[in-house]
Amino acid sequence: MSPRTTTAPEDQYTAAPFVPDGKGGGVTLPALREAAAACQGCPLHRNATQTVFGTGRATARVMLVGEQPGDQEDRQGKPFVGPAGRLLDRALEEAGLDPADAYVTNAVKHFKFTQSEPRKRRIHKAPTLREMTACAPWLAAELTVVEPELIVILGATAGKALLGSSFKVTEVRGTVLEREIHGRPERLVPTVHPSSVLRSDDRETAYQGLVGDLKVAARLLS
Ligand code: URA
Repeated sequence: MSPRTTTAPEDQYTAAPFVPDGKGGGVTLPALREAAAACQGCPLHRNATQTVFGTGRATARVMLVGEQPGDQEDRQGKPFVGPAGRLLDRALEEAGLDPADAYVTNAVKHFKFTQSEPRKRRIHKAPTLREMTACAPWLAAELTVVEPELIVILGATAGKALLGSSFKVTEVRGTVLEREIHGRPERLVPTVHPSSVLRSDDRETAYQGLVGDLKVAARLLS
């Protein structure tokens, strides 16, 4: 199947034709990143500045999965470099996980936003299930290359993208789940999205909750 433009109906959005064939091994993260830069698998590429692919080493033991890039990430081309990312780095270190040892990515690789007028602030808009499903082949490819020992799910969107639409972060946060994901047995620790900590009325309690969940992940890796 060759890459196509995004005139396809919504239920046919998919990144699959843009993902290099990994059968037989040999696909690398740089090759995936380069291919993802040209992805037009759903309409989100039209308004975003660029594809924001995952960062980190192929040998990372833990993969952190967020929702989608935000404004800063869209401009800089790297995941979690804005306020939520700074909070996440602090929480990882406090939990005993070295951010440099993690592969960090998002369920959706383009920034989705609304903007009332050009040059006005771009407001984050949650991706739809169709957009998440369209982008899933990239996450599957990242999992195939990195083969992490553990996946940390950051919030509801990442949880739905990996575990299905019935996922509820409040029900499973801080627990260890074992599931088959894209044909591979995986261990997953869900927690809240760092942005929800920034929005919380009681930021300190929310932050300590995030750190507590990340400590579960750290213990599994120790
Ligand atoms: N929120 C996310 O889910 N991912 C990012 O990369 C930044 C903010």
